[in-house]
Amino acid sequence: MSRSETSLPAGLNPVADLPKPPGLHWNVRADQPVAYSVSMVRGLLDADNPTLARACGGGQGRPFRCLLVIDSVVDSLYREQLAEYFDRWQIQATWQVVQGDEDAKYLEQAVRVTEAMSRMGILRRAEKVVAVGGGVVLDIVGFAASMYRRGVPYVRVPTTLVGQIDAGIGVKTGINYGHHKNRLGAYFAPELTLIDPEFLRTIDPRHVANGMAEIIKMALVKDAVLFDLLEATVGSITPDTLAGCGSALSEVLSRAISGMLDELEPNLWEQVLERSVDYGHTFSPSLELRADPPLLHGEAVAVDMAICVALAHLRGHLSKSDTDRALKLLQGFQLPISHPIFTPELLEEALADAVKHRDGLQRVPLTRGIGSVVFANDLTAEELGRALEFVGSWKATTAEGELVGAAV
Ligand SMILES: NC(=O)c1ccc[n+]([C@@H]2O[C@H](COP(=O)([O-])OP(=O)(O)OC[C@H]3O[C@@H](n4cnc5c(N)ncnc54)[C@H](O)[C@@H]3O)[C@@H](O)[C@H]2O)c1
Ligand SMILES: [Zn+2]
Repeated sequence: MSRSETSLPAGLNPVADLPKPPGLHWNVRADQPVAYSVSMVRGLLDADNPTLARACGGGQGRPFRCLLVIDSVVDSLYREQLAEYFDRWQIQATWQVVQGDEDAKYLEQAVRVTEAMSRMGILRRAEKVVAVGGGVVLDIVGFAASMYRRGVPYVRVPTTLVGQIDAGIGVKTGINYGHHKNRLGAYFAPELTLIDPEFLRTIDPRHVANGMAEIIKMALVKDAVLFDLLEATVGSITPDTLAGCGSALSEVLSRAISGMLDELEPNLWEQVLERSVDYGHTFSPSLELRADPPLLHGEAVAVDMAICVALAHLRGHLSKSDTDRALKLLQGFQLPISHPIFTPELLEEALADAVKHRDGLQRVPLTRGIGSVVFANDLTAEELGRALEFVGSWKATTAEGELVGAAV
């Protein structure tokens, strides 16, 4: 801390640079280092694999406690395996089961997780909270961990595709509030994320497509090689092949994860609001929860991406053939490219909310060719209407059920 009239270097603290009233002034400055790792580990629940036990703080030949917060479906499928694993490694897990669907992602659920921490009397640093589940449970637990005693360490074990390539690997946590996605939340890094694709064997095929939307996003904004790979594997991606994680799918997962981490790492706290990973997340956050029946997150992102593909094409950033490839790839994964809730009026409303989120500017990422982005700040309502029409007529003129590339 400095007591003086000097200010921090320009840009670091705009408030400190304001004219001072007469008197003494104190400026406080601290940096918070963030370090966490993401590891892909096959056979995470194998009895002789110490990785998870060590992540929980145990595995040292003496009993150890942790708070296991687990998605209810994952609990029903993997309880026996997990319980045997914890016994083997002398981990005394306090078991807290949480519902893992979007409509369970509300504040009270996060508060309940903090109550479980309190009941257990979790030690503030030595004992870990271990979140096992999809993006919903990871977001709830991460938010609870950020609030409890203003922050306790936690470990993530994502069990869905969205969790493994997106929700589980960044630092964002949150819950939905007032029809808005993730309106309340915190940036709060886990100590570690452990990804075992074997969990994907039991996910619903609709949740494969849901996760693929986020992978297609990464391909469109920064990885043309990944895009080619997706075109080549589209017919063969199933819960079983993802779990088996052969060489092509291992490459898909690893490119998606590294692409995402490359984008997140230099901008973890989102000081820069032009984020290519926001592709497909301009209109979808406002509309995802309004659809009836609700859209899954990745489905809403897919419709948003289709509109952005059309916007890029209409602005001359994306050739007709790349536009066709992008829309066909989305369809190839059984993702929607249009939905009745995405009307011109609601798109405009959603964009207005995105402008608030993005501090006053649209900052809408659009593809410039496949694999790179450009940001638009001047989209008009009329242009949004034309993009919707473009997708509508594209869909009508494209043969239904056509798959892209050869299935392998
Ligand atoms: N924090 C972030 O950076 C971030 C990033 C992307 C998405 N998200 C959030 O993630 C959420 C979506 O996550 P999701 O798609 O994983 O949904 P989800 O967590 O709702 O899980 C989907 C369904 O799969 C079930 N499930 C979980 N693992 C399973 C398994 N191994 N086998 C069988 N069933 C299983 C769940 O019980 C649930 O019914 C959204 O709320 C989204 O906002 C957060
Ligand atoms: Zn997303």
